[in-house]
Amino acid sequence: MATRGGFSSRLGFIAAAAGSAVGLGNIWGFPAEVGAGGGGAFVLMYLIFCFILCFPVMVTEIAIGRKTQKNPVGAFNALGFRKWNFVGKIGILSGFLILSFYNVIAGWAFGYIFEMATSNFAIAEQFSAFKMQVFKVGGYGLVFMVVTAYTVSKGISGGIEKAAKFLMPALIIMMLVLIGYSFTLENSGAGLAFYLLPDFSKINGVVMYNALGQAFFSLSLGMGALITYGSYVSKKDNIISSAALITLADVGVAVLAGMLIFPLLGFITEGNIGDGQMATAGPDLIFVTLPKVFEQIGSFGAVVGAGFFVLLCFAALTSTVSLLEVPVAYVVDEKGIKRNRAVWLVAGFIYLIGIPSLIGNGYSEFFTNFITYIGADSPTSFLGFIGSVANDSLLPLGGCLIVFFAAHVWKKHNLDAELSVGNPSYEGSFLQKYLNFTISYVAPLALGVIFILTVLGTFFGIHLI
Ligand code: TRP
Repeated sequence: MATRGGFSSRLGFIAAAAGSAVGLGNIWGFPAEVGAGGGGAFVLMYLIFCFILCFPVMVTEIAIGRKTQKNPVGAFNALGFRKWNFVGKIGILSGFLILSFYNVIAGWAFGYIFEMATSNFAIAEQFSAFKMQVFKVGGYGLVFMVVTAYTVSKGISGGIEKAAKFLMPALIIMMLVLIGYSFTLENSGAGLAFYLLPDFSKINGVVMYNALGQAFFSLSLGMGALITYGSYVSKKDNIISSAALITLADVGVAVLAGMLIFPLLGFITEGNIGDGQMATAGPDLIFVTLPKVFEQIGSFGAVVGAGFFVLLCFAALTSTVSLLEVPVAYVVDEKGIKRNRAVWLVAGFIYLIGIPSLIGNGYSEFFTNFITYIGADSPTSFLGFIGSVANDSLLPLGGCLIVFFAAHVWKKHNLDAELSVGNPSYEGSFLQKYLNFTISYVAPLALGVIFILTVLGTFFGIHLI
């Protein structure tokens, strides 16, 4: 068998996996959720969920990947449970769906680099029109997909790892510079206070539900992305400590993104940020509100604005790379197609299934008002629909099944044995007991509940919380 390749070092793996985790979800999704629901209370719940609930899921995914050295479908087969490979198939499907619309949004962000660099701040008012220029915006998306595919085609150590080792540090440096600048703006402190001081009375079922969903997506869990990356990890590596660093990096970047965006929001609301004055939720935060901020900050606006969108694209690129790698690994391992060919075929196909998401933002009436859920007042676009199906439903479902499988079908002692490879002191530790308990009961239950709440609430209008 030809070698599948692998990460050249532990650091390379951590950079790539952290790159997968750090994406639009951190820099855009996280601040948007904080703004929409609960400020610091949301942040607190998010942090708790990342470490106590999502970290064990991450460890499980990486362990399954490293044990089997396979893509998510092949992994279940290799462990001897073919019947369970449908879980891997759900993951591959999720990868296709998520990348198809994620790439559209990345294309907008890419286009905004040029809009900001040329001081076209009026784009804030013309965001709807911008999205309707489907040939232009579709072109940006195409470039993004080509760069993604090119990176993946260069293989694990030569493409994915190399890109992450450059992009991740560059991202952090750019963020720190922009944060430093945002702190100098008037009323930045009011923004920070809203962000960082939790108002415990705001913690409720909905905030918890959103925080867990956000944590799960942000850590790239539930579709086997980390089974796939784990399959390229050396047997010498310590999975637990690697996963801890990946989680820390992801959480760290999300927290930093908030430290960048909330001072900007404090500035533009003149300190009245808590009063719901701001369109903080959804695409508007990044594509409408921030350009207005960049306009107001004067001579530096173009540089800060363009810098922000470069940063967003860097974050998105290491994520699109991981989303593409999952179906590619599947096609390479299971269908015996050569990597290079597989990459371009899969990327081309995903770009095509993303077209309805591209044109469903005003250009095509049909895909814009694609579906009206039971009990909903207004229709949802194709992009929104795919987001609800893949991100909000299939990921928690996949995650629930993966941990349930590991604990109760593959069995805990096998998982423990894999986690002990490269980490001899794991067996018998407190952490082992904690992870066993979480993976067996807490995580499958919580993720199952999230899945059911989403399906009932989103598609059937039955709101249990
Ligand atoms: N975590 C990324 C973000 O926050 C998105 C992402 C990349 C992802 N790969 C994934 C999400 C795999 C779920 C599964 O933007």
